[in-house]
Amino acid sequence: MSENTLLRLEDLKLHFQTTKGVVQAVDGVNFSLGYNEAVVVLGESGCGKSSLAKAILRLLPRNVASYSGKVFLNGTDIMAYDDEEFRRNVRWVMMSLVPQAAMNSLNPVLKVGDQVAEPLMTHHGIKKEEALQTARTMFQHVGVPEAFLDRYAFELSGGMRQRVAIAMALVTSPALVVLDEPTSALDVLTQANIFNVLKRLKHELETSFILITHDIATSSELADRVAVMYAGQIVEVGDAKSFFTAPLHPYSKKLMASVPRLRGDQEPEFITGSPPSLLNLPTGCRFRDRCPAAFGRCSEEPPVTVIDQRLVKCWLFN
Ligand SMILES: Nc1ncnc2c1ncn2[C@@H]1O[C@H](COP(=O)(O)OP(=O)(O)OP(=O)(O)O)[C@@H](O)[C@H]1O
Ligand code: SF4
Ligand SMILES: [Mg+2]
Repeated sequence: MSENTLLRLEDLKLHFQTTKGVVQAVDGVNFSLGYNEAVVVLGESGCGKSSLAKAILRLLPRNVASYSGKVFLNGTDIMAYDDEEFRRNVRWVMMSLVPQAAMNSLNPVLKVGDQVAEPLMTHHGIKKEEALQTARTMFQHVGVPEAFLDRYAFELSGGMRQRVAIAMALVTSPALVVLDEPTSALDVLTQANIFNVLKRLKHELETSFILITHDIATSSELADRVAVMYAGQIVEVGDAKSFFTAPLHPYSKKLMASVPRLRGDQEPEFITGSPPSLLNLPTGCRFRDRCPAAFGRCSEEPPVTVIDQRLVKCWLFN
């Protein structure tokens, strides 16, 4: 593991039990992240992005069928921690999450300032006054007026509530923040504002980000690297510049071609077909039914991941 590696996932799996069978939402993810690095995770709805976030932070629902693999944080395998050690040393201490639809999950009966201060009191034993002072500083970082500390969530706009949710994730100065679609359900101007806040935070604080988003165009400005997820697995990882200039995996190419462009006369393309059911995955490559480049081997065995400067899970690169 390189000295610069903050987080490393090895064969991470999170499967859910349902009445219809086992949903293989995260199915053998390998991935690493450096210090002060922003990785953007892209992929269609239902491919397992939120489940990956939950697997990293061990925020597991009751119907887990299996949860396995290795998660190294600063070189220590935190999968070996028991739940109490994980809660005490990792979650909201070293890593935090801005969950999907976070702005709607703020507590309606607590002032937002108290909510942002709360992780400091709970996880670091800091007294309320000092915690509120740190919350005030955090409000400045994310661009929420200080006076809003005393407001309730319903008194804030969606964009402001989302900033509060980001402040809450950052208040304990974690080394890593996972943001799950922090700009969905916001108008385009507010989305751009939130991305600007994230860009600024990346420079001001020494934090790494995993940013899950459908907003490919805007996220390209924040990303150091890009990871593409398909049917529970990561199929490509590359540095942002190379990825956005020339994605390699056939699915990544389709994904990029689906982004509407302001300039040029290129029409956005739609990806035909739909992803395979995570209850019943095909043999071979999971993208083969939709892939224009599929050939014999693709249906016979799952592609191995080729790791060079970039990681690609496709037989074309083997
Ligand atoms: N607790 C659960 N029990 C059973 N299935 C689940 C559970 N949570 C998620 N799933 C299923 O796992 C798959 C991946 O879901 P997930 O929410 O991780 O996708 P996603 O990539 O975040 O999608 P979106 O972009 O829509 O947020 C989906 O098929 C979803 O229905
Ligand atoms: S392995 Fe085959 S089907 Fe899968 S993406 Fe590559 S070419 Fe397409
Ligand atoms: Mg999701």
